[in-house]
Amino acid sequence: MEPAVAMIVPLVLALCTAMAGAAVVEHTFNVGAMNISQLCTKSVIYTANKQLPGPTIEANEGDTVVVHVVNESPYSLSVHWHGIFQLLNGWADGAYLITDCSIQPSGNFTYHFNITGQEGTLWWHAHSSLLRATIHGALIIKPRNGTAGYPFTVPYGEIPIVLGEWWNKNVYDVEIDAHLTGLGPTISDALTINGKPGDQTPCKGAGVYEMEVASNKTYLLRIINAAVNVELFFKLAGHKFTVVAVDASYTDPYATDIIVISPGQTVDALTTTSAPPGLYYMAAKVFDSKTVSIPFNTGTATGIVRYTKAPNNTVASMPAMPAHNDIVTAGTFYRSLTGLARPGDPAVPTTVNHSLVVEFGLDQEPCAPDQTKCKNFALVASMNGYSFQFPKNVCLLKALYDGLPTVYSEDFPMSPPPVPVIRKATSVMKVMYNEVVEVVLQSRAYRNNLGTESHPIHLHGFNFFVLAQGLGRFDPRARGVFNLVNPQVRNTVAVPGGGWAVIRFTANNPGMWFMHCHLDAHLPLGLGMVFDVLDGPAPNLLPPPPVGYPKCY
Ligand code: C2O
Repeated sequence: MEPAVAMIVPLVLALCTAMAGAAVVEHTFNVGAMNISQLCTKSVIYTANKQLPGPTIEANEGDTVVVHVVNESPYSLSVHWHGIFQLLNGWADGAYLITDCSIQPSGNFTYHFNITGQEGTLWWHAHSSLLRATIHGALIIKPRNGTAGYPFTVPYGEIPIVLGEWWNKNVYDVEIDAHLTGLGPTISDALTINGKPGDQTPCKGAGVYEMEVASNKTYLLRIINAAVNVELFFKLAGHKFTVVAVDASYTDPYATDIIVISPGQTVDALTTTSAPPGLYYMAAKVFDSKTVSIPFNTGTATGIVRYTKAPNNTVASMPAMPAHNDIVTAGTFYRSLTGLARPGDPAVPTTVNHSLVVEFGLDQEPCAPDQTKCKNFALVASMNGYSFQFPKNVCLLKALYDGLPTVYSEDFPMSPPPVPVIRKATSVMKVMYNEVVEVVLQSRAYRNNLGTESHPIHLHGFNFFVLAQGLGRFDPRARGVFNLVNPQVRNTVAVPGGGWAVIRFTANNPGMWFMHCHLDAHLPLGLGMVFDVLDGPAPNLLPPPPVGYPKCY
């Protein structure tokens, strides 16, 4: 770790904030090459400030965050602040070709945003190609008045646990190959905990993340699934968890010995160190929801929790992990969480203006001429029959702002087509300011026996209420069991394979907001759509682009 000068500044500022009002938290991310020896292999990866995971941003609710991103890599990239609302500030969302045209090599851009109305754990990541495998980090939001504002006992310590996925190969090349074969990226070489694979891989001497704890204290683990393509089970031997927040929204305390987390999601969990002093493994392994057998990473990432008073030569104990396909454990965790509805928190809107059914899945299509390694078929994904195409050389937000008529169409359908068709198009759905949108997210079986799997659907620009979720086809009678009182509030929901989830949100933020599967494998295949939320009455208008905004044309 090289604490750059820029990192000292936010620390000082953050300290002041705890006492005074809103502060400015400032960072510089130099994104460039880093040599690393991982899994007994020497690689060059691209990271922010030569750290994996990248620097943690710590702020208080109400603060302004300023991040100078200096692109010293050979790739153009944008950085997305996953889960941050970007209220009237869509230009800073960092979604490549949706809200900006990416920072070119040798270029730089300063992202500027406020954090309002959210507390807990979020994260940031590159939002262009597989680069986010190594360009990501935690974004921690404390209450305005500091830890005293927690709706739970102030923990003795707080530790970010960033779960990741590692490829020995350059991930940019993995992505290119994914397109050439038409089958998506190869499986990763390891899972990681805070950048380290742990000691259960074939490489002896691989890095192990260790955290030291005192006995009989409560710690807050801020768990982030930064893995590119896999949902994960996470456990800590000899310890239990109480979940207190997900996706920077507080939950009712939920006691569990296992965390299930999909890419894009975060889970804040308390754990008390009341076990006999010793060494305990934390472990992460893939929850594989696929109904047909396709190879996946069967490894286990491990880290070690070391009690300060652990006797010498203690052997760490391993948690008993569920089977990879333990859909029951996953479903129970995902469904059991409820939101901590506090006075003043936004209530579930009861009138719905747009009621959509968005059905999505994968299909096969003939290999395209440029897919030179494609054998029998290529994969394609769609939502309501539209396979999302990124615009070329222009982003949607700028096109909207400049009134360019031909960049996208506004015909994204309210429901799936009656007969299966797939159209490749850049199609958005128009929503008026402050309208309430309800979406039945329906995962369908893949055609041609491709099976089905769970998809983490992420919405930019908003949190949503998860009113219900279930297996099979959504039955309108399920409306009777919608939780309108204390549903969980998220920005990413793992829609069960072949199942459904119903989300509801108020479109109180003008801009172009991407809703997509957070398995990066599915993004270039077209598993996404965009909400075009129109300006409201003044002052609820999208402002002009900020200074230095990465140019599209
Ligand atoms: Cu964390 Cu569009 O992504």
